[in-house]
Amino acid sequence: MHKRSILITGGAGFIGSHVVRQLVNKYPQYLIYNLDKLTYAGNLENVKDLENKPNYTFLKGDIVNEDAIKSFFDTHQFDAVIHLAAESHVDRSITNPLEFIYTNVIGTANLLQVAKTYWADREGVLFYHVSTDEVYGSLGTTGLFKETTAYDPRSPYSASKASSDHFVRAFFHTYNFPVVISNCSNNYGPYQFPEKLIPLMINNIFHSKPLPIYGDGLNIRDWLWVGDHVDAIDVVFHKGKVGETYNIGGNNEMTNIKLVHMLCDLMDKKLNRPLGKSRELITFVKDRKGHDRRYAIDATKIKNELNWEPKVFPQEGMAATIDWYLNNAAWLENVTSGAYQEYYKNHYQG
Ligand code: NAD
Ligand code: TYD
Repeated sequence: MHKRSILITGGAGFIGSHVVRQLVNKYPQYLIYNLDKLTYAGNLENVKDLENKPNYTFLKGDIVNEDAIKSFFDTHQFDAVIHLAAESHVDRSITNPLEFIYTNVIGTANLLQVAKTYWADREGVLFYHVSTDEVYGSLGTTGLFKETTAYDPRSPYSASKASSDHFVRAFFHTYNFPVVISNCSNNYGPYQFPEKLIPLMINNIFHSKPLPIYGDGLNIRDWLWVGDHVDAIDVVFHKGKVGETYNIGGNNEMTNIKLVHMLCDLMDKKLNRPLGKSRELITFVKDRKGHDRRYAIDATKIKNELNWEPKVFPQEGMAATIDWYLNNAAWLENVTSGAYQEYYKNHYQG
């Protein structure tokens, strides 16, 4: 019997590694292919526990490379794509926007085009594009992003993701190509590269290094435990309606300063430091260029239509995240120093 063959892109990154793990373990009847370029953010250590699973295969490759993607489709006959590969960090997009255009825009369009050609008019296939709430722009003090909110991307990162979303929808409308999209708020949890706010702060608190807060620290993000996002992706992949978009959020708005205070206090306790000690490391620094003020999601549609809602409370999720980073100090050290990168460059036989 033909087993459903699923291509997951970006599965060596933060969210992708959790998606790959959940699908490999929960659906032994699927063949899961993890395609990743292994950039600075992609790390096979993140999926090391899966390497001997019979329904898991890693494919090293660049989504921009048309020949490579075609040859993977020919060899593995994918029935579905869950597309997470991207350049994902806003600060890097400000210094190097072109890399974001190559991977996020051209890479996505390339995947769409190859999948469309390969699948032709086949039934039962699906292209699931994983995107961000940042495509909607920045909110004032009130209001929430809905699926119908007009796109207003304001950073090179969000502009590239918005562009990729547009291509995905254009393929649906123009060619009747079967797609589904989700736009999610900020994730946190294990395996997030320590350039993003939460793991960066945990790392710096641990090493008693300054905690850089951009601007006045009053920018707001809606934080979601990565496992909740993975459950949402699982649900959208299996039950989402073709051509639809689903917003995913944590119902968990926090200013950056409040979040950092929370991390400091939790870590003081875990590290047996006097309460308030880590807060002394907080340093207000120059604001990020074009810094979006507030993101917040209205996740009513996915709740009503697909019965998904976040389960993990922030205190619980943050404490679990801190524990993971404290218990995986070697991982943190090796991703920051680039040691894993070197290792996999020299040892990967793919
Ligand atoms: P990440 O940076 O941790 O991982 C991205 C992965 O993509 C890495 O493994 C990297 O090696 C791979 N990659 C990059 N360029 C590639 C290319 N050209 N070809 C193949 N692989 C390539 O990112 P993440 O935080 O896990 O985000 C995953 C996806 O989810 C992204 O599409 C992002 O836009 C989206 N998203 C992220 C968040 C968040 O809070 N992190 C929120 C909403 C949506
Ligand atoms: P980040 O984790 O980069 O996610 P995004 O910009 O995609 O939302 O940043 C989250 C928030 O934290 C954002 O408002 C920028 C802010 N921030 C800091 O104040 N200091 C930092 O060192 C970083 C990385 C982010």
